[in-house]
Amino acid sequence: MSAPARIYLDTNRVISPISPLLFSGFAEHMGRAIYEGIYEPASPHADESGLRKDVLAALRELNFRAMRYPGGNFLSGYRWLDGVGPRDQRPRRRDLAWQSIETNQFGTNEFIEFCKKVNTEPMLAVNMGTGTIQDAANLVEYCNAPVGTQYADLRAAHGYQAPHGVKYWCIGNEMDGPWQIGHLEADAYGAKAREAAKMMRWHDQSIKLVLCGSSSINMPTFPKWDRVALERCWDVVDYHSLHYYAENVEDDTPSYLASSAAFESYLDTLTGVLRYVKARQRSNHDVYLSWDEWNVWYKARAHSDMQGGWTEAPHLIEEVYNLEDALVVAQWMNVFLRKSDVLKIACLAQVVNVIAPILTTRDALLKQSIYYPFMLFSRLASGAALDVAVKAPLYQTTKYGEMPLLDVSASYDEATGASAVFIVNRSQTESLPVELVWQDRAPKSIRAAHQLSGTDPKAANSFANPNQVVAVKIAEPATSGNTTSLVVPPLSFTALEVAL
Ligand code: AHR
Repeated sequence: MSAPARIYLDTNRVISPISPLLFSGFAEHMGRAIYEGIYEPASPHADESGLRKDVLAALRELNFRAMRYPGGNFLSGYRWLDGVGPRDQRPRRRDLAWQSIETNQFGTNEFIEFCKKVNTEPMLAVNMGTGTIQDAANLVEYCNAPVGTQYADLRAAHGYQAPHGVKYWCIGNEMDGPWQIGHLEADAYGAKAREAAKMMRWHDQSIKLVLCGSSSINMPTFPKWDRVALERCWDVVDYHSLHYYAENVEDDTPSYLASSAAFESYLDTLTGVLRYVKARQRSNHDVYLSWDEWNVWYKARAHSDMQGGWTEAPHLIEEVYNLEDALVVAQWMNVFLRKSDVLKIACLAQVVNVIAPILTTRDALLKQSIYYPFMLFSRLASGAALDVAVKAPLYQTTKYGEMPLLDVSASYDEATGASAVFIVNRSQTESLPVELVWQDRAPKSIRAAHQLSGTDPKAANSFANPNQVVAVKIAEPATSGNTTSLVVPPLSFTALEVAL
């Protein structure tokens, strides 16, 4: 075995407090995400409202702090009034984004009820495609205004006297994408978003608004789109969004396992844009980043798979996740901690059936490989992100040149004394001895160690074989003085719970 890699930690070397909203999700009216995923009255697992109890339990375990809804591309043709009021009066519509039939049996109020059951904060999006700024403002009134005016009274008539108090609002979805219904150029979108933001905020000064940014680092309009939209809207929004889906189409696992380089570069560029616009506007206001769609998505991307064939709840993009995908998700979340000074919201896209950590059949639920890293980060990372220094052997990648074999992040919660250290070993062959050097204080104990690993990067869970790629508890590593020593196997993700 080679000389130990070293991870240096110091609780005084802090990047930023970790925003809990980094552990959020996204649920779209698409495929079997809502219907047959979250809401399935015919399932033996349905509760009195038709929500799947097994799905609710799994989502609670993932500890999502906010949930973005109702889209996605679906949003840009959605009429929110279709989804409220008596169910038997709601229209069936053709959803042009996914060429599916939308029954509208699940809408805004059902979503709010769902969020309460999952113990998560709703993050609603308003339609900037076919929707008007008036529609957007009306939805804020419907959700957040006290009774006494038309849309607030409509909410009360629908059974909700008290306002829902929705705090987080996205102004449209991927408006930079030519595929988007009602796609706009950056300046036109910025102008519309600004007016929508003004009206929405006049209904409720306390809301937080998210501007649409680029839908991928690969968009030809990135990062100009972001600059132009931000220049229009800087003072009226709180967050700027980015989307990205990682892929291993070339089956180049060494490069794929170094994907954090791409995630970091995306955030670095946008951080530059934020600084530039702030400086140009001579502003004291800050806008933070919201990575409100992120995940691995490439295996279930075939064009024919995108079509719903004008059916209800079609099987769309039900990506099967394997070990290497889970390791990419883990390092994505490492990046969230390392960039926690500028990134404040991140929504895993999506949460059930559609590119999701959970797959369902009518009577069963499967936890996919990516379930485990998300759960460990979401449950263990708290307090502040630490600026860790890593000395690890390098390896060669086609896409990113030389990269370290280890990808690491850490958190420290001063209030509880709890620290968490997250380590990905990218090597496909090498076990690496690792020393954690605690520079300012020795740990009282290593409370627990969790690990997800395997020998086959393509190994995946299935309904028949659900425990191929799962996180298990391993023996807590020993600490001597200020050094904790462990060996991380190849293709592994390790999460340590430490008492400091
Ligand atoms: O999450 C699936 C789709 O990916 C969303 O509808 C869209 O916003 C993105 O392109």
